[in-house]
Amino acid sequence: MSPDPAPLLQFRGVNTHYGDLHVLKDVNYSIAPGEIVSLLGGNACGKSTTMKTIMGLVRPTTGTVLFEGKPIERLSTSARVARGIAPVLEARRLFPRMTVFENLEMGAYTRQRDARFDEDLERVYGLFPRVKERRAQLAGTLSGGEQQMVAIGRALMARPRLICMDEPSMGLSPLFVEQVFDIIQAINRQGTTIFMVEQNAAMALQVAHRAYVLQTGVVVLSGTAEELRRNEDIRQAYLGEMAVGTAT
Ligand SMILES: Nc1ncnc2c1ncn2[C@@H]1O[C@H](COP(=O)(O)OP(=O)(O)O)[C@@H](O)[C@H]1O
Ligand SMILES: [Mg+2]
Repeated sequence: MSPDPAPLLQFRGVNTHYGDLHVLKDVNYSIAPGEIVSLLGGNACGKSTTMKTIMGLVRPTTGTVLFEGKPIERLSTSARVARGIAPVLEARRLFPRMTVFENLEMGAYTRQRDARFDEDLERVYGLFPRVKERRAQLAGTLSGGEQQMVAIGRALMARPRLICMDEPSMGLSPLFVEQVFDIIQAINRQGTTIFMVEQNAAMALQVAHRAYVLQTGVVVLSGTAEELRRNEDIRQAYLGEMAVGTAT
């Protein structure tokens, strides 16, 4: 028996295609409850496709995606959200002509509007005071950083067990990047598992417990964040370090 807890999310031998283009190639991931796991990799290697495969926006041609030990690859996106997986995908996809509050409300659409709705709303407002201040404003009029906070808040309103984030820091000013990563850690400490794609590898490896590295659709490396921070290839490819031998 493995001493590890049963995985919350697993990819087993997943292959995905867009027509003739073979994107994910026999990919295996295993995310344990309580972890923050980061997915690193260059452009066009299949990171967003991974997130879309989890949410059901892309279907594997072969292989299985398991959530809490059960195959989910045939479920609709909303059925996956109802099971406890919430997306914060690229471009944020807020409803720009709805208010911030209405966007948060949409996050809870798979649940009945139960007594916990107000409790969850307070939790989101507690994490993001700025979102609370802006609750009556149209989402489309917020800054990029504020929209990202609403997108994360909206995901939390679904009471997810797992949040999937695609480049949460993209396009944000350094101050917002810091805030978003602080929030990710706070959400994780409150019990939510996080799987995130992040192009900011230095930040990602500071907050993540573990990471996978994708290269043209193949997982070429995985390990603890500490191991990857020390890995020479990772340092050169993703952490912007100079080659060995440059004396300081
Ligand atoms: N809807 C699509 N139709 C056809 N090709 C796509 C589609 N989405 C992504 N691709 C291609 O699949 C590959 C992987 O894309 P993606 O997963 O978005 O990469 P990443 O997020 O790592 O940059 C790229 O070559 C991209 O052009
Ligand atoms: Mg992408």
